[in-house]
Amino acid sequence: MSLTALFRRSGPSGFGYSSTAEQVSRGLDLTGKTFLLTGANSGLGLETLRVLILRGATVLAMARSEAKARQACKRFGKRAIPMVCELSDPSAVRACVENVKAMGVTLDAIIANAGVMALPECETNHGIERHFFTNHIGHFILVNGLLDQLAENGRVVMVSSSAHRKVPEGGIQFDALDGKGWYSPWFGYGHSKLANMLFAKHLAKGFEGTERVSISVHPGVIKTNLIRHMSWWVNPVMGFVNLFIFKSAAEGAATQVFAATHPDATKFNGEFLSDCDVVQPTEYGRDAEMAERLWEKSQKIISALP
Ligand SMILES: NC(=O)c1ccc[n+]([C@@H]2O[C@H](COP(=O)([O-])OP(=O)(O)OC[C@H]3O[C@@H](n4cnc5c(N)ncnc54)[C@H](OP(=O)(O)O)[C@@H]3O)[C@@H](O)[C@H]2O)c1
Repeated sequence: MSLTALFRRSGPSGFGYSSTAEQVSRGLDLTGKTFLLTGANSGLGLETLRVLILRGATVLAMARSEAKARQACKRFGKRAIPMVCELSDPSAVRACVENVKAMGVTLDAIIANAGVMALPECETNHGIERHFFTNHIGHFILVNGLLDQLAENGRVVMVSSSAHRKVPEGGIQFDALDGKGWYSPWFGYGHSKLANMLFAKHLAKGFEGTERVSISVHPGVIKTNLIRHMSWWVNPVMGFVNLFIFKSAAEGAATQVFAATHPDATKFNGEFLSDCDVVQPTEYGRDAEMAERLWEKSQKIISALP
């Protein structure tokens, strides 16, 4: 627990800044429930995997390679099922979708947690800026591909970020998705996190009138491997600051575990949660027209991919 936690009160959910994933899921029996989790081998994903397993769930634990997925699952027994999902490779994501379908499982929740942050240079993948491609397009293919497997009361949780605020003027850069003319490491990341949020929002619109929910979350700021692309000195500096400000991984995983499992979270379809309570995203994050346009554009992009 950081010093910041001492000054933060719990919100209306009864949870707050320093609530952990174990605390928000205490008393829940997830036996017989199946969760799909991306980025299960590191940081918040690994803690989310641990706590879901602790509560009795079965977890399809996705990592970029079989070795990483197996390594992540090995201490959790048979209910942690290692699977491969490389989000930057559309054919690998489609193969993952087919593998999940072939298992014949019903998914109680999909937690789109994997993400890449602050790539120093503007890189593209199939002509699309890499943060956007990995964090948004990869998950767009995965989640849409598995909607038939989602339970009637299933949940989709998109791990977005407060960094959705850090975007170029105009929000989603529909006419420059290759990053040209606007890219910086933080714009690249924020742009993709805005896309995660808008995706959750538009999905939520489609879920209206059903028992399904789609929620986006900000986990907090946590020192994880997410900083792997940043300068060498960021790690020790964050390690020091960590003592005062940042959340632990146990605290950071709380909001996504809450959104995916807690009975009270079913009322949050289309909302953005932080510390297990609703917070207001930016104007772009609330823009239903931008969300619809992003959906259409993403469909167009994926239909042209090999
Ligand atoms: N930590 C924070 O302060 C913070 C704040 C706001 C939001 N978030 C969000 O929280 C989520 C989890 O981040 P984290 O902090 O736990 O970071 P992390 O420890 O770096 O975990 C990120 C996960 O995403 C996976 N990943 C990266 N690129 C991928 C790809 N191309 N295909 C499939 N998986 C890929 C990583 O796999 P490898 O290990 O193989 O690279 C890793 O498992 C991210 O979406 C991040 O944007 C984090």
